[in-house]
Amino acid sequence: MKENIKENIMSKVQPNYRQIRTMRRVDSFQQYLFPDLLPITPKQEFLHKIRGKICLMLQCEKINILINKFGFENAWYSILATHIYQLHQPRFDYLLKQKEFSNAIILNSDILDSISIGEIATLYEYSLSHLNKDKRKQEGQYFTPDDVAQVMAKRALSFPLNKIWIDPCSGVGNLSFWLIKLQENPESFLINRLYLIDKDALALFIARTLFTLAFQNKSKSLFLDIAPRFIVADFLFSSNLPTFDFVILNPPYVEVKLDNRFKSAKARNLYVYFLERVIKLSKGFVSISPQTFTHGQRFRTLRQLLLTNMKDISIYCFDNVPDTIFRGVKFGSTNTNKVNSIRAGIIVAKSESKFRSFKITPLLRWRTKERTKMLERIDDYLTLVEPCVDVFPKIQKELLPLYYEVKKVKKSLAHLVSIRLTQYKLIIPTTPRYFISALRTKVNRCSFRTLYFYNKKDYDLVYLLLNSSYTYWWWRINDGGMMISKKTLLSLPIPDNIPVNTLLISKIEQSELTNRVFKKNAGKNNENVKHKAGLIEEINQNLFPRFAPSFKCLHNNSVITI
Ligand SMILES: C[S@@+](CC[C@H](N)C(=O)[O-])C[C@H]1O[C@@H](n2cnc3c(N)ncnc32)[C@H](O)[C@@H]1O
Repeated sequence: MKENIKENIMSKVQPNYRQIRTMRRVDSFQQYLFPDLLPITPKQEFLHKIRGKICLMLQCEKINILINKFGFENAWYSILATHIYQLHQPRFDYLLKQKEFSNAIILNSDILDSISIGEIATLYEYSLSHLNKDKRKQEGQYFTPDDVAQVMAKRALSFPLNKIWIDPCSGVGNLSFWLIKLQENPESFLINRLYLIDKDALALFIARTLFTLAFQNKSKSLFLDIAPRFIVADFLFSSNLPTFDFVILNPPYVEVKLDNRFKSAKARNLYVYFLERVIKLSKGFVSISPQTFTHGQRFRTLRQLLLTNMKDISIYCFDNVPDTIFRGVKFGSTNTNKVNSIRAGIIVAKSESKFRSFKITPLLRWRTKERTKMLERIDDYLTLVEPCVDVFPKIQKELLPLYYEVKKVKKSLAHLVSIRLTQYKLIIPTTPRYFISALRTKVNRCSFRTLYFYNKKDYDLVYLLLNSSYTYWWWRINDGGMMISKKTLLSLPIPDNIPVNTLLISKIEQSELTNRVFKKNAGKNNENVKHKAGLIEEINQNLFPRFAPSFKCLHNNSVITI
C-alpha cells in the first residue's frame, strides 16, 4: 500500500495541472454527492453497501499513510486539491489558487471520488481518530449518516420559509448539505440563509470546498462569496454569533464537569448544553442526540426548557438493536464493543405554532434491511401525548389508554416492597433487552436486584406483573437504557383488580426451571430465564386482555412488521 501511494504523488498543485489531466468521467463527483439513496432493488442496495464499505476501508488506509507522510492538515488539503483537479471543470480552477492549497500535493488516486458527503464525514472522523485516539472521544464527534441527515433536512422544510438557519457544530457539513440540497434554489440558500459554525477550522474548510463543488451555479466564485458564512467559533460561549432563526444540529456527546453557566448544568453533557443554548437563542430546531433527555432526573431542566420555550415538539426515538442510527464502527474507541451503540433521538421543535402539540415515538426497532422503510415512515409512529416534565414517555398509540389509566394508579411497586429480608424474595436480572424476568430461584449472574415482599399475596401479584410484558413496557417508556434502574422498577404502577391465577404462577415457576438462557458478557456467562412467547402471551391475556396484542409487538425486532 505504501509503495502505491508514493507512486501516486505526482506534483505540486500549481504547475501544469491542466496538461496532466486524464480523461475521466466529469460527472462522477456530482453523481455521488447527490446519490439516489433509495436504490432500486434490495439486492442493488445490498451490493451498493458492501462495495461502499470495502471502498471506505481502503480509503481509510490511504488516509493513514497520507497523514503520516504530510501531516493531518496537508493530507486533507491534498485530498481536496486532488479531487478538484480530477473533476476537469475549469470553473473550479480558482479553488486551487487558494492559499490553503499552496502546499497541497496532487495525488493520482482521488480518495473522494464516488463517495457521498456522509462517507466523507466518516473518513474525516476516521482521520481524526488516527490523529489522536482519545481526542475524538473527548470531542464526541459522531457524524450523522446521509439517510438520517436527509430525514432531518426534510423535517426542516416544514419550518417557515425565508428564514436564517445555523448549523452550530457542522463538522464537514453533512447536515447542512442535505438542508441546502432540498431548497428550491440551493446556491441562493447557501449564500443568503445559512451559517455553519465549528471549532474545527479544517472541517469548515472541507465543508466550504465541498459545498462549492456541489452548489456553485450562477456565481463564478461561490467559494469566496460564502466565506463569511463559515465561522470558526465556540458556539456555547461566543458572544459574536450571527443572528439566526432556526437551527439544525448534531452536537458533541461528551460527559463534562458541572458547568453552572447553564441551567441544565446537572446533565453534565455537552449535547444538553448545546440544546439549552439553541432553545434560548432560536425559534426552533431539528437536532439529533442521545435519547437520554427523554428520561432521568438530571435531564429534567432540559425537558422543562423545551416545554416552556417550544410550542410544537416532535421526538423520534431510536433503539440500538438490531440496527442502530449511527452506522459503522467507533473509530478510535478503546471499548471492545466496536459498534456505535448510542440510542439516538431526533427533536423537531418550533416556538411559534397555532396549537400546542407534543408528539413522541416509542423506541423504534428495525432490521438493517428495513432501515430505508423505517426512516420513510417515522411520522407514522408519532403519538400525541400530554407533555410532562418528569418524563417524555416513549409510547405507542395503541398503549396510550393503558398509560393514562396506570398513571392515575396511586399504588406502585415501592409500596409492596419490604426493606427487611422476608421469605418472599424475587430476583430481577437488570439488563433487559428483549424481555424482563423475575425469578424465585437462584440465578448465576452479576447484575440483578433482589426484592422482598411482606406477604404471599403481593409476592404472587408482583411475580405475575414482572414476568408479563407490562414491566418491560414500563421500562421502555420511561427509560430504555442498558439497565432497569431501581427508580423505574419501583415506580411500576400496581393497578387494582389484577387477577392472581395460581395455575399461571405454577407455569411460570416451571418455566423458570426449564427455560434458562446464558449470555456472555465480559467473558462471563450470565444466566437468565427466557419464558416462551406463548407463556408471556398467556400472562398478558390474563392480566391485560385488552392490550395483549400490542404487548406482544413490544418484543419484536422491528416496528416494520407491525
Ligand atoms: C457530532 S459532530 C457533528 C458533525 C456534523 N454536524 C454531523 O451531523 O455529522 C460535532 C461537531 O461539533 C464540533 N464542536 C464541538 N464543540 C464545539 C463548540 N463548543 N462549538 C462549535 N463546535 C463544536 C466538533 O468539532 C464536531 O465537528
